[in-house]
Amino acid sequence: MKILITGGAGYIGSHTIIEILENTNWEVISIDNYSSSSEKTYQRIEKITGKKVTYYNIDLTDLSLTEKVFAENTDIAGIIHFAAFKSVPESVENPLMYYHNNLNSLINILKCQAKYNIPNLIFSSSCSVYGNLTELPVTETTPLNKPESPYAYTKQIGEKMVDDFIKTNANLKAISLRYFNPVGAHKSGLNGEVPIARPNNLVPYITQTAIGKLEQLTVFGGDYATNDGTCIRDYVHVCDIASAHVKALQKLVDDKNFEQHSIINLGTGVGVSVLEAIKAFEKVSNQKLNYKIGPRRAGDVEAIYANNTKAKELINWTPKFNIDEMMLSAWLWEQNLNKM
Ligand code: WQD
Repeated sequence: MKILITGGAGYIGSHTIIEILENTNWEVISIDNYSSSSEKTYQRIEKITGKKVTYYNIDLTDLSLTEKVFAENTDIAGIIHFAAFKSVPESVENPLMYYHNNLNSLINILKCQAKYNIPNLIFSSSCSVYGNLTELPVTETTPLNKPESPYAYTKQIGEKMVDDFIKTNANLKAISLRYFNPVGAHKSGLNGEVPIARPNNLVPYITQTAIGKLEQLTVFGGDYATNDGTCIRDYVHVCDIASAHVKALQKLVDDKNFEQHSIINLGTGVGVSVLEAIKAFEKVSNQKLNYKIGPRRAGDVEAIYANNTKAKELINWTPKFNIDEMMLSAWLWEQNLNKM
């Protein structure tokens, strides 16, 4: 079975390709324009798995270029669509870049899925679609609040686009996976997150501060209504996220009676504050982290973590890694990255 991964050179995409190559006999092709990654990712994938990936350097907002890949690969049985910009603060500063990229690339993928009649789609969504909520943990039926950032809004609109599109054709099925906060790195220490510039996300910022690439971590806000005043998130190991994609796609392939468009939370169900994440890092790295408490960051929600019952029941997924293991894998990767 041939699977198309968009964003396959990226953080979650590359870990999912590794999971597929190590656990299935599926053939993988990847499309990535390296806007937040590099071609080197594919060499890391081959080093870990011993397998090559066919890949295309294409901007998915260009329909004619995107369509050429589908015309060359008429045997694609499923698409996992990761490719999107994903930084909350960057989307606040540059909303049009996010609306253009995230929405037009999805529209082009859906157009090709329809034209080439590809039955299965996994859409990379995000817990940011929930906005600021008071009832926690969130389930998939929790009503969505106002999105706190343009990034979050592109994921809310994206889910609706997938929903409306899939219902136009009874042969097509989709699962939208709402990731909480993917962190960590592959157990081999040979693949992980490679921020292109200064990282926006917490965990790479922690590891780059710890290794000396960055001077000091600023904790964005110490006055939230949480137990220690800092924001709470549901951090989930990127390899747990990867295994969920394989299970979700396998489910679409195997279960012809599966719901036409399902939405599934991918989180551990454990809320961890920024200070708790820092303490976990200090524990596993056995070193103090240089940080200070600063002002809040625009676009941040105060707290969010998942009820992941549906993932367990529908795709038989249970996250395996805890926050200490996530932090240790991220730290080992940062140290290896430094040697490359
Ligand atoms: C986490 C917490 C920050 C950096 C991410 C992805 C998004 C989506 C949801 C998948 C927040 C705080 C951060 C720093 C800090 N995931 N922080 N100092 O914003 O929750 O969104 O998860 O699709 O794509 O971006 O993640 O890591 O940026 O922030 O205090 O230097 O860490 O304020 O509370 P976020 P994040």
